[in-house]
Amino acid sequence: MSEAPIFSLAGKVALVSGAGQGAGAGISALLAKQGAALIINDVNAGRAEKQAQALRDAGGKAVAAVFDVTDLDAVRAGIAEGEKAIGGPVDILVNNAGNGGASGDLPMMPFAEMPPEVWRLPIDVNLYGAMNCTHTVLPGLIERGWGRIVTIASTAGTHGVNGGMAHYGAAKGGSIGFTRMVAMEVAANGITANSVALGLIKQGDIPILNQLAKGLPAGRRGTPDDVAPLCLYLASTEASWMTGQTIQLNGGAYTT
Ligand SMILES: NC(=O)c1ccc[n+]([C@@H]2O[C@H](COP(=O)([O-])OP(=O)(O)OC[C@H]3O[C@@H](n4cnc5c(N)ncnc54)[C@H](O)[C@@H]3O)[C@@H](O)[C@H]2O)c1
Repeated sequence: MSEAPIFSLAGKVALVSGAGQGAGAGISALLAKQGAALIINDVNAGRAEKQAQALRDAGGKAVAAVFDVTDLDAVRAGIAEGEKAIGGPVDILVNNAGNGGASGDLPMMPFAEMPPEVWRLPIDVNLYGAMNCTHTVLPGLIERGWGRIVTIASTAGTHGVNGGMAHYGAAKGGSIGFTRMVAMEVAANGITANSVALGLIKQGDIPILNQLAKGLPAGRRGTPDDVAPLCLYLASTEASWMTGQTIQLNGGAYTT
């Protein structure tokens, strides 16, 4: 019985974008617990440093990598620095940075009233952010013949939500389609790419989110601890035949 335990990530390097708080913090903590060395990205330096320190305090290996995922040059430089600091190339990429992006604010309104500058906020971070990070790490994954890409999407990318989120739906739907297409291109290279269509985890008093939360069959919003185990599975060696999929994780809000 000397084999590694199931879902061990020992020897792997994982990059989680937007990992300074929320789902990304929960995902990074579980991947670190399973033995991965973590590159903790966030555009907010304080959050990235704090989460990397928390993982080190818990006995893990982690470095902060502060960059904006919407800026391709910054992504390339930031990932290179993170890989140098952690001592190896990225094996696992979790495209988690999202919502409305760096401002933390995603204005919601009917699309007929939405000014074009607002459309770009979620598309830049949720779609271009995932494309920028994936494009940067993909050649190395192909060269080494192993890789895992997990894109944190949303039910807003797979289902209609009548709440002033057309721009967010476009961004998340785009990230799902992008991840699926990349999965096909690299499936024979030992690389998987999947999306998690996440349901409501946001806390706080936002009318549309309160209304959506009332209808959840599970009777509660999700937490980062609900998100992390699915990401661990998708990041694992064991999940090598799971690719190109969009997995719903939503407390029963939508069933297939
Ligand atoms: N919260 C929800 O209810 C919910 C529901 C469905 C899907 N999601 C998705 O889950 C993911 C995580 O959401 P959350 O609510 O846990 O996160 P959050 O908004 O609480 O935190 C996201 C983190 O990402 C960082 N970030 C934002 N823009 C960035 C950028 N351009 N570059 C680097 N870092 C950046 C922020 O500083 C922040 O620390 C997102 O992709 C979001 O769209 C969230």
